[in-house]
Amino acid sequence: MSRESGDNLDRNRSGNLPMASVMDLYLSRRSVMRGGLGAAIAMVAGGGLAGCFDNTSAKQEATSAAGGKPTLALGFQSIPGSRTDGCTIAAGYSAYVLAPWGTPLNSAGAAWKADGSNSAADQANAMGMHHDGMHFFPIDGSSEDGLLAINFEYIDQQALHPHGPTVDASGKRPAEEVRKEINAHGAGVVRLKKRDGRWQVVDNDPLNRRFTTASQMDIAGPLRGSEHVKTRFSPDGTRCRGTNNNCGNGYTPWGTYLTCEENWPGIFVNKGTLPADQARIGVVTSTGLYQWESAAGDSSEVADEFTRFNVTARGASATDDYRNEASTFGYIVEIDPYDASTRATKRTALGRVRHEGCCPGLAIAGKPLVWYMGDDSNNEYLYKFVSTAPWDPADANPTDRLATGAKYLDHGTLYVARFDADGKGVWLPLQTATPTLAGSTLGALYSDLPGIILHTRGAADAVGATPMDRPEWTAVNPLNGDAYLTLTNNLVRSADRADHANPRGPNLHGHIIRWHDSDDQLSFTWDIFVYGANASGSSEINRSGLSELNQFASPDGMSFDSRGVLWFETDNSEKSVAGYTNDQLLAVIPTQLLGTDGKQVAVNGQNQIDLRRFFVGPNGCEMTGITFTPDNKTLFINVQHPGNWPFSDKATDATPAGTRVRPRAATVVIQRVDGGEIGTA
Ligand code: FEO
Ligand code: CA
Ligand code: CA
Repeated sequence: MSRESGDNLDRNRSGNLPMASVMDLYLSRRSVMRGGLGAAIAMVAGGGLAGCFDNTSAKQEATSAAGGKPTLALGFQSIPGSRTDGCTIAAGYSAYVLAPWGTPLNSAGAAWKADGSNSAADQANAMGMHHDGMHFFPIDGSSEDGLLAINFEYIDQQALHPHGPTVDASGKRPAEEVRKEINAHGAGVVRLKKRDGRWQVVDNDPLNRRFTTASQMDIAGPLRGSEHVKTRFSPDGTRCRGTNNNCGNGYTPWGTYLTCEENWPGIFVNKGTLPADQARIGVVTSTGLYQWESAAGDSSEVADEFTRFNVTARGASATDDYRNEASTFGYIVEIDPYDASTRATKRTALGRVRHEGCCPGLAIAGKPLVWYMGDDSNNEYLYKFVSTAPWDPADANPTDRLATGAKYLDHGTLYVARFDADGKGVWLPLQTATPTLAGSTLGALYSDLPGIILHTRGAADAVGATPMDRPEWTAVNPLNGDAYLTLTNNLVRSADRADHANPRGPNLHGHIIRWHDSDDQLSFTWDIFVYGANASGSSEINRSGLSELNQFASPDGMSFDSRGVLWFETDNSEKSVAGYTNDQLLAVIPTQLLGTDGKQVAVNGQNQIDLRRFFVGPNGCEMTGITFTPDNKTLFINVQHPGNWPFSDKATDATPAGTRVRPRAATVVIQRVDGGEIGTA
């Protein structure tokens, strides 16, 4: 999320305090800390981890010469931090910019103009602002021709318009400016081809397209047709307009993209009494973040395009106004990148929160499919969705991808995680019969499944989920199915509300937690994989023994590649680490971090050389999005909200004195100079 416009306020009033109190009966938190990481895991997790991270088979697969496979090992040396306006990268690699904000995708969009004067229509046909999650979809399996599906998280109004946003004397935003802002949000699909060894955007490719905060979309799953999503635009509650604040992403085994709606509530305003779901998720009552609602009534307004951002109940019924417009946001949205005739589809069964990331578990024939999802605000929860239908590998190449999406993503169970002090955890189903801590049921609280989904956070409160330190991306190890979650930080967690899954209060640096689900999907075992920290931090802060060569804070974007290398990016706001380095990309191979018993261990003082800094972005940026070509020879990452880059190759300050540079988020393409696979030997 942006540091400027993000909203991760603590709106959790549940009082859920899951496990610290239990564990403290036996062991003070300080004694866990003093024991160091290994001791802490042993004490906190007990025997739970032994079975969980039994990694023998994966280790053998990764290293067995007899199996004909090369040893899996990082093939680069960690690089020092950097605080320049350029990228720094490990030796032997190259990096270049591709498709920055404003790059036209077709002939309807004019070339990007450095003075900010592109029109709203230009913006609707060009790369949006603030690149975030993305996924590479190969054409016919190629690693040199494919579609990049990508999120555009939010806007920088100062950079978007020639002189920043304006408001007229009556307090109204100009319609053209509002449309340009609406069109700069959302997601996109862009055809990329490698020519002469270098990736390029294929201008005017028929598969190039944009999804903005105005694009018509279908509502699918439990909310489809329900009273909660009927509006003047869609009286039958089957359609909606737009996706917004698309941050992390996911994908499916049948070749579709999942874009996740994160800090969308701010675009709405409700000047009446907030319903419970809007209060819990953070709809505001004074004025929308960008005042889009103020353009309502403009003589050029079409189909309530601005009116809809005012969700105050004003008409006789829900189909007379837009009181339900905010109920059409907060979802996982499925996009078929391979078929430009399809509409994006909101898969409401996966819950309604501030979604960040939606990583699939391993697709195993005959077993349900699983997606893991964070809700990024202070003290919010980790969720997962388990399909009702077991995975049929014949569905990997369907003729109708969104019909396959309906099969697996519209019917299933949404769960929320409770991390217990003994290193185990429980997935609590958000269903009508689920008992609440107060002795009721979710059905009694919210009537039915659509009601539960609408109030996902409230339902999770009621069943006793564990409040986490801002759950961001999830990732699943292809070698063993272990799942990982970045917990970026939590500045409002007080020390007395620290627990074993979120043991630092406040948590300035963030950490990465991992777990392994039971076969029945109802429980898991967990440990903390690595703690962010400054290298000079005390032992209570620097619990993973990080050095200057891998210190980091605020882990956020994260993905495994197909070989089992875990890559994670940072959105740092901790001043000690930020004083040493700009945001970065690090890599580690979890299945190679083994204890003397051959089982996986966390990053610690003995193995931390295996957690390595690979790339550092330019001043002011946050590293977001990560995806690979099938051959792992191209790595795409995004540089979001750079201070003033790309502009110059100067080593320090890229902005010539006295000039202003309009910053452009961009995708960065990383290749190995010798053409080999990224990151490994
Ligand atoms: Fe958009 Fe949670 O970062
Ligand atoms: Ca973030
Ligand atoms: Ca993020």
